[in-house]
Amino acid sequence: LANGLGITPPMGWNSWNHFSCKIDEKMIRETADALVSTGLAKLGYHYVNIDDCWAELNRDDKGNLVAKKSTFPSGIKTLADYVHSKGLKLGIYSDAGVCIFGRYLTCSKTMPGSLGHEKQDAKTFASWGIDYLKYDNCNNDGSKPTIRYPVMTRALMRTGRSIFFSLCEWGDLHPALWGAKVGNSWRTTNDISDNWESMVSRADMNEVYADLARPGGWNDPDMLEVGNGGMTKDEYISHFSIWAISKAPLLLGCDVRNTTKETMEIIGNKEVIAINQDSLGVQARKVRMEGDIEVWAGPLSDYRTVVLLFNRGPQRYVITAYWDDIGIPPNTVVEARDLWQHETLKTRFVGSLTATTNSHTCKMYVLTPTMS
Ligand code: GLA
Repeated sequence: LANGLGITPPMGWNSWNHFSCKIDEKMIRETADALVSTGLAKLGYHYVNIDDCWAELNRDDKGNLVAKKSTFPSGIKTLADYVHSKGLKLGIYSDAGVCIFGRYLTCSKTMPGSLGHEKQDAKTFASWGIDYLKYDNCNNDGSKPTIRYPVMTRALMRTGRSIFFSLCEWGDLHPALWGAKVGNSWRTTNDISDNWESMVSRADMNEVYADLARPGGWNDPDMLEVGNGGMTKDEYISHFSIWAISKAPLLLGCDVRNTTKETMEIIGNKEVIAINQDSLGVQARKVRMEGDIEVWAGPLSDYRTVVLLFNRGPQRYVITAYWDDIGIPPNTVVEARDLWQHETLKTRFVGSLTATTNSHTCKMYVLTPTMS
């Protein structure tokens, strides 16, 4: 979407994966504090995104959305001011949802959706100082998302405030195919869960649309589960690596107030984050698949290439990336930087690069052409 936002994939945090509907203003404030105190904000995690369940079931007598009194007593504007005072941005959630018993409901069915109230809600969000809107597709009226979503796009644009627009639609009409003019990111999958099979299948579904990602509009395989406890450290490293090279939004889904050292090592890996935020903005693809082993690769700025040797299987494998597959001219000599070991390999490589990978792990390298 040409609103000047999402020039690189958005980074931040969202409440859903860890907290689902158990959210309140204290926890959101503490999360903003934690993003700053842990150093995550400095690394680029700027959006603090409130997901579903933040509003009263009923609009006020003027038809405005109202923050839930029991959990957000100070209101969203006060919260936005607080989050902004920390140098961060506040995101919120709504839904292009249908009328049930006189109400337009979101996925949780605990609050109204915005269908038919787009202008009014966009104005409300802008007046509160909202910076990001995640817009869901539950309980819709059966009309096409290509009809319902652009109404919110226009409403947001008309507010004059810069609001990142995240399309949370994946099932009806493959938003990757139409999302670029409507939003800054679009879901390519149904919801992720905190386990290996779910994570890997979302990576696969998202990869299909690689050619459609570009600065201003990104494929979204759903939010990160790193730190939520359902996968091993190696599996979370694979998860984070694939999201990074896929130019996916890096929206943390754990409780950042209580991150372990292990989680911080993953989500705080500057070199991996830099791949996600690279200015070229090209999503990596699978370039070779042989049973449980895969090679993913994509171009980076300055003629560099990122390559991922990915072991999806139950045993150890030797994996080779060939220049032919990853788009490097045949005689090019490269220097290889291992982004998880944080070391530049002493050997130079020409034609191919081989490494051994354990079950459910990956090796992630940046290859830079060199003269010798
Ligand atoms: C859908 C979305 C999730 C989350 C929930 C909230 O399932 O895909 O990311 O926003 O709704 O109810």
